[in-house]
Amino acid sequence: MAGEKFEVEADFLTIGRTFAEYRRMFDLTAEDLAGRALLDCGGGAGAFTATAAELADSAVAVDPLYGPTAEELEGDLDAAVEYNVGQLREKADLFVWDFYGDVDTRGRYLRAAAERFLADYATHPDRYVADGIPDLPLDDDSVDLALVANLLFVYDDRLDRSFHEASLRELARVAREEVRVFPLASLDRTRSEYVDPVADALRADGHAVERREVPYEFQPGATEMLVVEPV
Ligand SMILES: C[S@@+](CC[C@H](N)C(=O)[O-])C[C@H]1O[C@@H](n2cnc3c(N)ncnc32)[C@H](O)[C@@H]1O
Repeated sequence: MAGEKFEVEADFLTIGRTFAEYRRMFDLTAEDLAGRALLDCGGGAGAFTATAAELADSAVAVDPLYGPTAEELEGDLDAAVEYNVGQLREKADLFVWDFYGDVDTRGRYLRAAAERFLADYATHPDRYVADGIPDLPLDDDSVDLALVANLLFVYDDRLDRSFHEASLRELARVAREEVRVFPLASLDRTRSEYVDPVADALRADGHAVERREVPYEFQPGATEMLVVEPV
């Protein structure tokens, strides 16, 4: 699968999180964001880029989903949120509700993220690049911090190990300081079997790699991010 371009819309849930959720998922501080060049890889219908751009030097999201107009995307995004909320209602006991409290509140977060995303996507199209890992249309060391939320490791049933390795190498190429990936659990709710071998492959390239606890838990036990400091 590595090297292929993706036709992903049908295969991935096109929902997005708010800036507040990203801050928790990646344990981000103001210093991580202020004056920095940021990349949200697989940004989806998330609000991170729109809000982070207020603090950052630059903020860009890359996702093969981008390209259609905001009006064209809106219906599909609404449907994805309602589908996700319906699934959560059926399976609420499989998740940890400390952050959201209940399914309705989680639904409000999803709708708020999609609304903020669509408004920013319409007014700042330059921030949203229609492309994807493992080949990013970005120069070496062109961002300070690259984030990947709810894409790598989660979908290890359809993205193979070589895709994960190639993608993380690519992210380490474009990021000067750090790549952070959350969560490390796959859809079967245990830590993805790719985490350790992919971390070892990156270490063999000379990158520093560690798992770090974050103050966010939705899938039980999925409270770690992977942090890569490129050489
Ligand atoms: C579940 S969503 C996560 C969105 C956002 N990161 C979040 O956490 O809310 C997964 C996103 O990954 C995108 N995606 C799928 N394949 C991709 C690729 N090869 N490169 C970049 N993004 C990809 C999908 O289009 C989708 O928007």
